[in-house]
Amino acid sequence: MIEFLDLHLRNHVEWSISAEYPQALSRRDLKNMVVIRAGEKIVSHSVVDFVDLTTNGLTLKLGIIGSLVTDPNFRKRGFGRQCIEKCLELSVEQGCDISVLWTYDYDFYRKLNFERAGHEICAYLEKSSFSKQDGVLFAEESLAAGPKLAAETLDLYNSHSVRVSRSRELQEQYLKIPKVRFFAARNAEGKLLAYTFEGKGADLTACLHDWAGPTDIVSNLFHFAKEKLGTTVIVMIPGYRADVAARLEPVAKRVARNPFGMIQILNHEAIIEKLTTAEPTDVGSLLSAYRKLNGPLQAPGFFFGDLDLNEVQLTIDEKRVYEKYLPIPIWVWGMDAV
Ligand SMILES: CC(C)(COP(=O)(O)OP(=O)(O)OC[C@H]1O[C@@H](n2cnc3c(N)ncnc32)[C@H](O)[C@@H]1OP(=O)(O)O)[C@@H](O)C(=O)NCCC(=O)NCCS
Repeated sequence: MIEFLDLHLRNHVEWSISAEYPQALSRRDLKNMVVIRAGEKIVSHSVVDFVDLTTNGLTLKLGIIGSLVTDPNFRKRGFGRQCIEKCLELSVEQGCDISVLWTYDYDFYRKLNFERAGHEICAYLEKSSFSKQDGVLFAEESLAAGPKLAAETLDLYNSHSVRVSRSRELQEQYLKIPKVRFFAARNAEGKLLAYTFEGKGADLTACLHDWAGPTDIVSNLFHFAKEKLGTTVIVMIPGYRADVAARLEPVAKRVARNPFGMIQILNHEAIIEKLTTAEPTDVGSLLSAYRKLNGPLQAPGFFFGDLDLNEVQLTIDEKRVYEKYLPIPIWVWGMDAV
């Protein structure tokens, strides 16, 4: 299976895709890989990874689908669709609330009830405006100190209010991703204050993706990394971190606001129940608002943002309850971005 993926998705690099996705493509998760064969030959493949997302105290279960590829000689026969449908079936079996994936092939996935939703901000840094900060030391660091670095970065990672649960073991695996570079800000005692990775996987070259730390220090660290890397870098920012985007906006060449990914709602009742536990009377209003949606493609935007509420005729009460709970901030990084 890995050979099949390397052939079709990683023929431009010298390492195996399995090095980039230690969780999703590990032996332990073979049961989550969907494979279609023609005789002995693998002709189509996808994988689904199950993760818990904490978002401002709420926990959602996500089925993240990735690495869909069909052998070019076997395309347009419905194999890709079958792989995705199987991943969705596995996600429902696992009790997932939503399914998430990243792609540019929007129409293919729309036919399978996925729609773009949530928010991501990309800041393009063409020049660096790094400046020294009192008591803070900036450096590119070696990743050789694996276990120690894994513990330090995980501590900072866990300060994100929106995050996918991540083990120390997995964090150590991420430090071994080929060609990944690591930039750190520390105080005089050596305590890690902020970090950012670059090149975490072949798809994230020149991207500062997976970072943490206080807004002022981490924003300065992006400029430091840009200076060291030389090329234009893209800083990937969760939509809910407007504070970080605002810091970069005046100096960035461009700041683009995009949807976070493609989402399918698998269990809207479970999400509404989780959202409104403190106020069960709100359940009815949120459910009745949801039932006014014009089909499943409006559901991701309803829960995670960008649905134009004018498209849905909500009553005053439904609108009030909607605005009380929704949209839910969503962001996934540093997990296997399959
Ligand atoms: C995207 C990809 C996985 C689709 O795989 P596939 O097996 O061809 O997918 P399907 O056959 O299920 O559907 C593809 C198209 O064929 C059509 N189709 C399905 N069965 C068909 C049939 N029997 N006859 C004719 N067309 C058919 C589908 O309607 C779909 O149409 P669309 O292109 O208008 O959406 C494949 O093109 C691929 O591997 N691309 C490169 C890797 C990639 O980009 N992966 C996505 C990463 S997110």
